[in-house]
Amino acid sequence: MKVAVIMGSDSDWRVMKSAVDTLKNFGVDVEVTVASAHRTPQKVHDFVKNSDAEIFISAAGMAAHLAGVTASLTTKPVIGVPISSEPFKGLDSLLSTVQMPGGVPVATMAINGAKNAALFAAQILALQNDALAKKITAYREQMAAAIELKDDKIKREVLS
Ligand code: RP5
Repeated sequence: MKVAVIMGSDSDWRVMKSAVDTLKNFGVDVEVTVASAHRTPQKVHDFVKNSDAEIFISAAGMAAHLAGVTASLTTKPVIGVPISSEPFKGLDSLLSTVQMPGGVPVATMAINGAKNAALFAAQILALQNDALAKKITAYREQMAAAIELKDDKIKREVLS
């Protein structure tokens, strides 16, 4: 099980680290590269063509064409993460990533949605990996339990 994370710039790492951490926590192998659709197009091409990852997570900001270019080079699933940046706060990245022409899909996450990108990739891999599926179910249960604790805490505050 392997996921490749491509970032348009090292400045995207502040957001994308959580995707890598999440995948590692689930025991999924990750490879990471900085490669830009505009600044280093040949590197993007070579990386995507040579990677043995099953899924790509492509993250970029501004005129964010990286996920679309990744998807143009492979038939493996591509998950796009629009990165927020000035002056448009990520709306430019979101639209650049999500508005793919018919025939070349990118599964676009929320702006800065690195964690969900990792979870979505893990869920795809879990279709053929029971151990990973169990870990994801346990993660959901832990999340629900944590919400219950927060709910109790707020109710106690209101009653006090
Ligand atoms: C995009 O431009 C990158 O993905 C990054 O989000 C943005 C700014 O890049 P830097 O100028 O910080 O390298 O291609």
